[in-house]
Amino acid sequence: MDDLKAKYLGLIAAAADEAALEDLRVQAIGKKGEISLKMRALGQMSPEERQLAGPALNALKDEITSALSAKKAALGDAALDERLRGEWLDVTLPARGRRQGTIHPISQVTEEVTAIFAEMGFSVAEGPRIDSDWYNFDALNIPGHHPARAEMDTFYMARAEGDNRPPNVLRTHTSPVQIRSMEAMGAPLRIICPGGVYRADYDQTHTPMFHQVEGLALDTDISMANLKWVLEEFVKAYFEVDHVDLRFRASHFPFTEPSAEVDIRCSWEGGTLKVGEGDDWLEILGSGMVHPKVIAAGGIDPEIYQGFAFGMGIDRIAMLKYGIPDLRAFFDSDLRWLRHYGFSALDMPNLHGGLSR
Ligand code: DAH
Repeated sequence: MDDLKAKYLGLIAAAADEAALEDLRVQAIGKKGEISLKMRALGQMSPEERQLAGPALNALKDEITSALSAKKAALGDAALDERLRGEWLDVTLPARGRRQGTIHPISQVTEEVTAIFAEMGFSVAEGPRIDSDWYNFDALNIPGHHPARAEMDTFYMARAEGDNRPPNVLRTHTSPVQIRSMEAMGAPLRIICPGGVYRADYDQTHTPMFHQVEGLALDTDISMANLKWVLEEFVKAYFEVDHVDLRFRASHFPFTEPSAEVDIRCSWEGGTLKVGEGDDWLEILGSGMVHPKVIAAGGIDPEIYQGFAFGMGIDRIAMLKYGIPDLRAFFDSDLRWLRHYGFSALDMPNLHGGLSR
């Protein structure tokens, strides 16, 4: 009987699942089980033998029955644990898939430009998109008859019947923010002004609304050399390269004297733009020393203060850096395009962490 007990307790402990356990039950205490047969044999025993064997067999049967049910419970717990592990769900995970929405390249580039100029001590200034004829033109030394007015394809706002003031305009550039900032903050001054601007034009490289960033630095000792250094630092940081060649080409703007357009050295080998090498030049911005009349229009004495300014197309430098061939796609709101060219909302551009990745 001890052998039977050891055998079945061992087998029960080792059973792998409920089916194996059921087989063991049948084999031991089922109708024709080993122990059941022994119990049936009690009838042929002498009363003395029966008195000994009967209780012992009953005890064995009880022991095996409880070992079976204990093992069954243990197997059930293990199965439940297993299932719980399989169905485990982290309810703190975001319910929506990642990158449902992306940061538009224009927003990304505006952030990148802002981060770079912030490191150089420039703060961000803003102005209205509907502005007066005075801020958009006159204060910038562009009088009424000036050809620059016609060149800009200006959108004019309607005036009420009988209102004879010159119409307001959708600003054609960010330069009017120079005047507004001088009025609001005086000198010395170091600002950039990013924002939307408008011109009546539409083709692969022109849209009626686009974006510029204006720069202005005023102080008592500012020269063209400061302009050159600031722009070189900017272009290196923005294109994430160690070296750039800039070419300052004499130009003309009514609001700067002297004026220069700035080109960067680049190559188009294999159809992709590489900045800092090659034999091509690419125009990226207009700049110059702020015209004394403009400084005076901002309410600052041009005998004491002078400075530099520049203006650059954000959409254009975004196209160059990120290889976007058609300007119009910026404004189509095509989700496939946004998923391809967009940026993760959690990657904030900054100079130590990396502008783009
Ligand atoms: N406002 C000019 C434009 O839209 C760009 C520009 C050129 C801005 C020279 C400046 C500058 O501040 O100095 O074409």
